[in-house]
Amino acid sequence: MTVLVVSGTGTEIGKTVVTAAVAAVARAAGRTVAVLKPAQTGVAPGEHGDVAEVRRLAGEEITGAELARFPEPLAPNTAARRAGMRAVRPEEVAEAAGKLAAEHDLVLVEGAGGLLVRLDDEGGTLADVARLLDAPVLVVTPAGLGTLNMAALTGEALRARGIACAGVVVGSWPAEPDLASRCNLADLPESSGSPLVGLVPQGAGQLSGADFRAAAPSWLGPELGGGWSL
Ligand SMILES: Nc1ncnc2c1ncn2[C@@H]1O[C@H](COP(=O)(O)OP(=O)(O)OP(=O)(O)O)[C@@H](O)[C@H]1O
Ligand SMILES: [Mg+2]
Repeated sequence: MTVLVVSGTGTEIGKTVVTAAVAAVARAAGRTVAVLKPAQTGVAPGEHGDVAEVRRLAGEEITGAELARFPEPLAPNTAARRAGMRAVRPEEVAEAAGKLAAEHDLVLVEGAGGLLVRLDDEGGTLADVARLLDAPVLVVTPAGLGTLNMAALTGEALRARGIACAGVVVGSWPAEPDLASRCNLADLPESSGSPLVGLVPQGAGQLSGADFRAAAPSWLGPELGGGWSL
């Protein structure tokens, strides 16, 4: 697997932190890694975006790339339209990821929001990017109540498009999980149709880079190069 698309059930669920964990584990195994954020929204020019956060956590030697940046925190096509800027098309994203894949062992493509959020006004989405690249999608989910339905919808959308799922990772696992969270660990694989391949603890995103890199292998399963298991 050279290109892995990191998506999930929505926004603010830990995709960036999970992307950083996958990158850190791959780096520790000696692989070269690039992270591509096709459309960064809600961030002004020069501000710290998701790519900068992944490099802070996983290591500055990781190649970072962003294709467009739109200031308002909205879906990429809406944010582009309102800013009077050109939207990012799935074909451009696939081309950029393909170029990075020629020079790196692993390319992580982090979407904006969930799988079917629109990139452009023609209806292009991150799912189209995955299909163009024939790349699997890693699905990041929240831990608690409501996640089973969203994971089921995402899994169904992937299967309907013939896109492989690389598994489900809980993006922010609480130190004191409630009943729903604990039950979800058993139910997520059946709901999503894919195995659970990691749990990133709440607070991981606040760690120093060194501490994050030291702990990341204990959060991800062997499918992602780590040593985690339930
Ligand atoms: N495991 C975690 N530990 C600490 N903070 C976390 C964790 N997961 C998420 N967060 C925090 O929650 C916020 C949202 O997380 P993150 O940026 O990873 O979301 P996202 O799913 O990548 O959203 P977007 O669609 O905007 O890219 C951030 O402030 C992040 O630091
Ligand atoms: Mg993010």
